[in-house]
Amino acid sequence: MERPSLLLCKGLLLAASLLACGNAPTAAELTIELVPPMVAEGGNSVLFVHKMPLNTQAFYWYKQKDPTKSYEVARYLTPTNASSKMPQHSGRKTVFYSGSLLIKNVTQADSGLYTLLTFNTEMESELTHVHLDVQKPVAQPTLQADHTTVTEDSSVALTCLSGDPGLSIRWLFNHQSLYFNDRMTLSQKNSRLSINPARREDAGEYQCEVSNGYSSKQSVPVQVSVTSE
Ligand SMILES: *[C@@H]1O[C@H](CO)[C@@H](O)[C@H](O)[C@H]1NC(C)=O
Ligand SMILES: *[C@@H]1O[C@H](CO)[C@@H](O)[C@H](O)[C@H]1NC(C)=O
Repeated sequence: MERPSLLLCKGLLLAASLLACGNAPTAAELTIELVPPMVAEGGNSVLFVHKMPLNTQAFYWYKQKDPTKSYEVARYLTPTNASSKMPQHSGRKTVFYSGSLLIKNVTQADSGLYTLLTFNTEMESELTHVHLDVQKPVAQPTLQADHTTVTEDSSVALTCLSGDPGLSIRWLFNHQSLYFNDRMTLSQKNSRLSINPARREDAGEYQCEVSNGYSSKQSVPVQVSVTSE
């Protein structure tokens, strides 16, 4: 029946990606991988099942750890049961024949521990867990210009303001990646763009885009005009 030491080992493997484990997994070990590894609200997440045993008779997905005290998110019985045609859809969730569970348009409420309970043809059961953490998407940054109309040969500075620290910042000009020239400098961890001296060709729409690896947001464009007087 269930093998607690092996389950614990699997839990460790999933939680910490440890390569070494007391009970060396056999080649046919069932594992669950999150694809992508990090997901923000509004994204899709696949709880991807690797190596579902060939003698699997039925499987059930549960949210939380203990199947008796939690709600079922999906189930799959024998392939001969007409009620178990794959893929199975229910709301934002889809279960595939492979066992994988797709959750679309995730919210923070989808965060938590998911458990896959499998039964083989001998009605032996096994539990495998995976933890889904839905991240908050980055907030939209605000772009501020010290001047929106400047005369040629004077300077202009743009500052990208974001509530989230430690983000990577990309600059856009007329909705494309900004091509930096030698009159432009970046400072304050790329959040401030100075153009000195400004030229007519610098006139246009500026935006900054912040990203944290799993989500990104662009500011509203700021129009900068360069006059010859
Ligand atoms: C098919 O599965 C359902 C549960 O989802 C069960 O109630 C029903 O008895 C099964 N039918 C057969 C023919 O096994
Ligand atoms: C995603 O979910 C949010 C609510 O959580 C909803 O407002 C939005 O319309 C959904 N988007 C899609 C594409 O289904």
